[in-house]
Amino acid sequence: MKKLMDLITEVVEQGFEACGYEKSLGKATLSNRPDLCEYQCNGAMGGARLYHKAPIMIANDVVAKLADRDCFEEVTAVNPGFINLKVSGSFLAGYLAEMDASERLGIPEPEKKETIVIDYGGANVAKPLHVGHLRSAIIGESMKRLSRFLGHEVIGDVHLGDWGLQMGLIIEELKDRQPELPYFDEGFTGEYPNEAPFTIGELEEIYPAASARSKTDEAFAKRAHDATFKLQNGDRGYLAIWNHILNVSVADLKKNYGRLNVTFDIWKKESDAQPYIPEMVQMMKDRGFAYESQGALVVDVKEEADTKEVPPCILLKSDGATLYSTTDLATLVEREKLFKPDRVLYVVDKRQALHFTQVFRCAKKTGIVRPETELNFLGFGTMNGKDGKPFKTRDGGVMRLEYLIKEISDAVYEKIMENRSVDESDARRTAEIIGLAALKYGDLSNQASKDYVFDVDRFISFEGDTGPYILYTIVRIKSIQAKYEALEDKFTGKAELLPAASESEKELQLMLSRVSDAVLSAFEEQAPHKICQYIYDLSNAFNRFYHETRILAEEDKERQAAYIRLLSLTRRILETCIDLLGFEAPDRM
Ligand code: ARG
Repeated sequence: MKKLMDLITEVVEQGFEACGYEKSLGKATLSNRPDLCEYQCNGAMGGARLYHKAPIMIANDVVAKLADRDCFEEVTAVNPGFINLKVSGSFLAGYLAEMDASERLGIPEPEKKETIVIDYGGANVAKPLHVGHLRSAIIGESMKRLSRFLGHEVIGDVHLGDWGLQMGLIIEELKDRQPELPYFDEGFTGEYPNEAPFTIGELEEIYPAASARSKTDEAFAKRAHDATFKLQNGDRGYLAIWNHILNVSVADLKKNYGRLNVTFDIWKKESDAQPYIPEMVQMMKDRGFAYESQGALVVDVKEEADTKEVPPCILLKSDGATLYSTTDLATLVEREKLFKPDRVLYVVDKRQALHFTQVFRCAKKTGIVRPETELNFLGFGTMNGKDGKPFKTRDGGVMRLEYLIKEISDAVYEKIMENRSVDESDARRTAEIIGLAALKYGDLSNQASKDYVFDVDRFISFEGDTGPYILYTIVRIKSIQAKYEALEDKFTGKAELLPAASESEKELQLMLSRVSDAVLSAFEEQAPHKICQYIYDLSNAFNRFYHETRILAEEDKERQAAYIRLLSLTRRILETCIDLLGFEAPDRM
């Protein structure tokens, strides 16, 4: 289906054309004076220059042509030459009925269906997840759902960090703690048992301990560095330990992401890209892209238009070690081979922007990706505490995801127990659903690149621009629907959506008609906050309508049935949108 705004534009364009004016002047926009009209067209102003005529004369001409078009209830020309438009009630009701009949709410299919790889999550094996990973998971999951909903072929990849120094640190710490393990024997070739020599709990303690130790103990730091190098060069024993770490860690990560309602289609790891490195590096050398600079192998990626210095992309350090960029480039080689993506979207902390600029330019320049492949970086800001600094726990450590989720759902639990709106037996589960919505909406409603303040009290409020407010609106609709179902005398005919009977109903209907605009711009601008903005406006419009309308007491049964249809369309749109954001609504709250 076409967007309502585009349909209106078409009609206004015909008006301009019929008067002998340039058709393209007829572009309609949302009104910036909602007290006067719903849509407007400013084309007469542009026409004035073209035709040396007063804009109001042009506007008057066009208005005369549009007067009898049945999609408008009111068309007026106002000084200095605006065309103000009000959509007719029956046209709008018809448009909504068509939306309601469509499986995807009338949201148009993309012109081109793309294959999109979304790189998000980015957890590091054996290191605790932190709030940066939380943001990546939440925003990435939403972009994945949104892209898929629109009909694109989407591959969500967690891209685990499993090949870094943390592995060497753990290996060396383990060597000191459990020297009897077989893995450390020089030339270990044996099969290793499936049982890992540590639990996730132990692993979570080993890494921070080793990391802290390496900061004061230089010899230990060197050992860890060497162990990492040995691992990366295929030491069998170390690979066995790495494999254990991976298994234990991934099982835990799956649980954590599961709690967030975040899933990945593939669980690729940095180590999976390593086999592609030698050939890739050779290609870059052979084709003259890579050259030696101060012992390292680098590729220039600066461009003339740069206003800031963009240093060369380093492929190999002087000791031959690979870097983060090498791995990301090799990962693109693999993605190209496996998926031939039209687009790769990285949802990563914005402080990594320079890294991705280098990687993208290098990949394009050296032909790792095709010229038409879109490489996008969705960089997000920091989640801060109320003190304006990156969010920490009360004791100062980086917050663990589990505690964060628990903190929010506990706060919600207390609140719903106070309200006594939910049975105690359901309260825990309900609090988790609401808590997740509060957390995700609190994050997604901000423009991603901005830092924001993590504020539990605000996030869990049932009023204002919050997740719980949206859920509350859905729950309210569910409850009216249930009460309506229980009524004795209901309309027996086929319920149709009727032209709005009040201003608040008209406003609600207009808002419903705009779901396409919200969803499409969220995708195009890679901005899930556009969906949040929309459902907040929609919830406000609904609640105003609800407060001003006697729905269950309505005596005109046909009108009452029309209200109920409007409610279910509102609910469907809200539920679709929150699903795109990655959360759901409870039945009661
Ligand atoms: N593991 C990285 C980190 O914790 C994030 C990975 C992002 N994705 C990528 N392809 N580099 O910072």
